Amino acid sequence: MKVIVTENKIQGGAKAFEIFEKGIKNGAKVLGLATGSTPETLYQNWVESDLNCSDLISINLDEYVGLKPDNPQSYHYFMQKHLFDKKPFKKTYVPDGMTEDVKSFCKEYDQIIKDNPIDIQLLGIGRNGHIAFNEPGTPFTSTTHEVKLTENTIKANSRFFDNIDEVPKSAICMGIANIMSAKKIVLMAFGEKKAHAIKEMLEGEISEEVPATILQKHPDVTVICDEAAAQELDDKYKN
Ligand code: GLP
Repeated sequence: MKVIVTENKIQGGAKAFEIFEKGIKNGAKVLGLATGSTPETLYQNWVESDLNCSDLISINLDEYVGLKPDNPQSYHYFMQKHLFDKKPFKKTYVPDGMTEDVKSFCKEYDQIIKDNPIDIQLLGIGRNGHIAFNEPGTPFTSTTHEVKLTENTIKANSRFFDNIDEVPKSAICMGIANIMSAKKIVLMAFGEKKAHAIKEMLEGEISEEVPATILQKHPDVTVICDEAAAQELDDKYKN
């Protein structure tokens, strides 16, 4: 994995945008996109750029079960606000958190990913090493599925809601196998709360207990983190 350490998240977002822009100019058409506070600086650079997105397809990692697309806490809403409203894509896919048949929906989503192989996949990382909502213990062979969120993730994400009881208890999420099928992966992490997860991901043993460790097996991963998130890393990663 290639590691790029930037001074802060502003520079990290600019660096991540550079990678996406270059990839798109070189022919990437299908982008796997992510939500959370981490990619905000990337999307900021994106909307301020003159990059034309009208022939791009995006496939988002996850969505809360039970939130309508117009709910400000939904990942649909997040994507519209931070990117799609300002940069229209040819087609955007975000899992349907309101589906009445989650199982069939997950199969359809897997088919969408199969029909539109992801050129560049964006990821954040949870404090426990989760990627998307794939919590510790998720099989590396998993495809799109419904996830019961852990107490820790519910607590961490409650900062976006009025109170913790409003945080949905489950989500629909691409599986690890879907993520690993992307041709290129860009993972971003900012802040000291991510430092341990970043160290485990890069230096730890590959284990389903730390989902992000599977990325050690992917041939093309770039990790962009700020100095705070990189603080526990071996010196060889620091540039
Ligand atoms: C959530 C999301 C992940 C995200 C992670 C970190 O649980 N499902 O996709 O990477 O949390 O979020 P943040 O970027 O806000 O720290």
